[in-house]
Amino acid sequence: MKVLIVGDIVGRTGLDRLKAELALRKDIDFRIVNGENSASGRGIRRKEYNDILEYGADVVTMGNHMYYRKEMMAEYAKLKRLAIPANLTNIVGNKNVIVEKNGLKFGVINLIGKFAMGEMMEKNITNPFEVAIEQIEELNKENVDYIFVDFHAEATAEKIALGHYLKNRVNCVFGTHTHVQTSDETILDTGMAYITDVGMTGPKDSVLGLKKEIAIARFTTGEYYHYECSTNEAMFNAIEIEYDDKTKKAIKINRINS
Ligand SMILES: [Fe+2]
Ligand SMILES: [Fe+2]
Repeated sequence: MKVLIVGDIVGRTGLDRLKAELALRKDIDFRIVNGENSASGRGIRRKEYNDILEYGADVVTMGNHMYYRKEMMAEYAKLKRLAIPANLTNIVGNKNVIVEKNGLKFGVINLIGKFAMGEMMEKNITNPFEVAIEQIEELNKENVDYIFVDFHAEATAEKIALGHYLKNRVNCVFGTHTHVQTSDETILDTGMAYITDVGMTGPKDSVLGLKKEIAIARFTTGEYYHYECSTNEAMFNAIEIEYDDKTKKAIKINRINS
């Protein structure tokens, strides 16, 4: 069984690159895409959600950008393939997503980190380690075959720790949010696949997808400048994992940065 996991899609150029890459990879059984920056870098709307599914994704995961689209607050729960961070207390949506496909049941959980995710949000984030266990129990009641966890977090130690904490309970823990791919992809001794950050599928010549001039102005002046998504050619950041069909253990993890 092969799974493709794609890092944060940024803007239209990121969506176009996603479309092209998914069209090239027909031998994949299950696809998870982080869509938190797909709407011009800021959040997701119905349009981008529908596009990502139409391109071939099975589940869309999110992150801290949930808050940017106020008009979406009442919509998230209606998007059945959208997993929102299960440990956010003030947003309504699916805390896990189950997809039945090719005779298998796939469960996906999205969690958000406690550290350095913005002061405004911190009071609304509960312990991701505890919530992970709660959500895994929910999925196990439904007899899922595979569980994937998108840990949307800034702090590398928090991400690595969650990976080890869940190594007997899920099939993959992957990090998102930093938009910079890490080269620590691995398979732990229990057969769980892990990477600290999948990276970004979005404008390469940018600062994490943001126009460089705006990012530099923010840092040099300390002032807030409105976000503008860079629009140049997108890079593609993803991981591909192959599992043994009998044991459900990962046998190969391949990092893609192109
Ligand atoms: Fe992001
Ligand atoms: Fe994020």
